[in-house]
Amino acid sequence: MTVELARQRIVVTGGTGFLGRALCAGLHQRGCEMLAVPTHQDYDLLDAQAVERLFADFRPQVIFHLAAQVGGIGANQREPGRFFYENLQMGLNLIEASRRHGIEKFLQVGTVCAYPKFTPVPFREDDLWNGYPEETNAPYGIAKKALLVMLQSYRQQYGLNGVFVLPVNLFGPGDNYDPTSSHVIPALIRKCVEAQRSGAPEIVVWGTGSASREFLYVHDCAEGLIRAAEQYSSPEPVNLGSGQEISIRELVTLIVKLTGYQGQVVWDTSRPDGQPRRSLDTSRAFESFGFRAQTSLLDGLRITIQDYLAGN
Ligand SMILES: NC(=O)c1ccc[n+]([C@@H]2O[C@H](COP(=O)([O-])OP(=O)(O)OC[C@H]3O[C@@H](n4cnc5c(N)ncnc54)[C@H](OP(=O)(O)O)[C@@H]3O)[C@@H](O)[C@H]2O)c1
Repeated sequence: MTVELARQRIVVTGGTGFLGRALCAGLHQRGCEMLAVPTHQDYDLLDAQAVERLFADFRPQVIFHLAAQVGGIGANQREPGRFFYENLQMGLNLIEASRRHGIEKFLQVGTVCAYPKFTPVPFREDDLWNGYPEETNAPYGIAKKALLVMLQSYRQQYGLNGVFVLPVNLFGPGDNYDPTSSHVIPALIRKCVEAQRSGAPEIVVWGTGSASREFLYVHDCAEGLIRAAEQYSSPEPVNLGSGQEISIRELVTLIVKLTGYQGQVVWDTSRPDGQPRRSLDTSRAFESFGFRAQTSLLDGLRITIQDYLAGN
């Protein structure tokens, strides 16, 4: 059954965040005018009463649940308890309220961090439960994965149409450049630009560079979420990715070149690499709702670096 989003009252949680802003732009382009973006300040989703108020105020028919505590390896290592509790609790409150209010569609944004540490590449959705996630981001990944089970059991028992989408690492304009919580691409862009400006002879990068990652441009991800909300109604999780794997070493080389940084790169091998390899099998998203990423890593990086330079 296809959901015609332009006719629905839609709530986007986390709509002020990096992915949330791209999603709201995509929904506006689809003609969705009944779109509400409750802020963290007005509706703390950790509080079940605030969630109840959100339902009373907006009477949503479709919810995109993006609100989360997210961060790079360092932030996950510093605050694993908070990452576990808050990501789980927000989902518990919202999914339970969605059941009680009988909404049409609930889309939970998951994460590639839910996959086992040594998943065969490319990661297939069927491998999600075949092992424990990489330790540095396991609490975050497992909290999200528990919400997949909640949605599956609520579908079975109550008929709630909840879907679970797993995006790979995102990048693009408007990312978080705060060095205490940023992900690898914005962290590297900032490091290179600042080092270039100050004439620093070297930058230090975490790990060995041997780990690999896959990156999805944030506006492509938004398009995938919209298509999933419109066309995907299966209890099975679905990956969203670009299908392009790159080593961190190659990524650093690329960002150094694109930012024009002239100094040396020093690898701090006392720091963790994180998951050894990450790359998704994206065939389910293509077969189910025709999603393919449109923006190459190179094009997306050029836009992102321009965006950073324009604001800093
Ligand atoms: N970024 C990635 O690479 C990536 C990859 C895969 C999946 N994801 C998923 O995509 C989603 C969005 O990530 P993002 O990178 O856009 O994160 P983000 O920029 O940090 O945005 C998170 C949003 O959640 C809100 N929020 C946090 N705690 C809240 C609470 N207790 N109540 C209400 N709102 C709360 C934040 O509001 P405030 O800022 O006002 O606190 C913010 O709007 C997350 O579910 C994340 O797990 C992200």
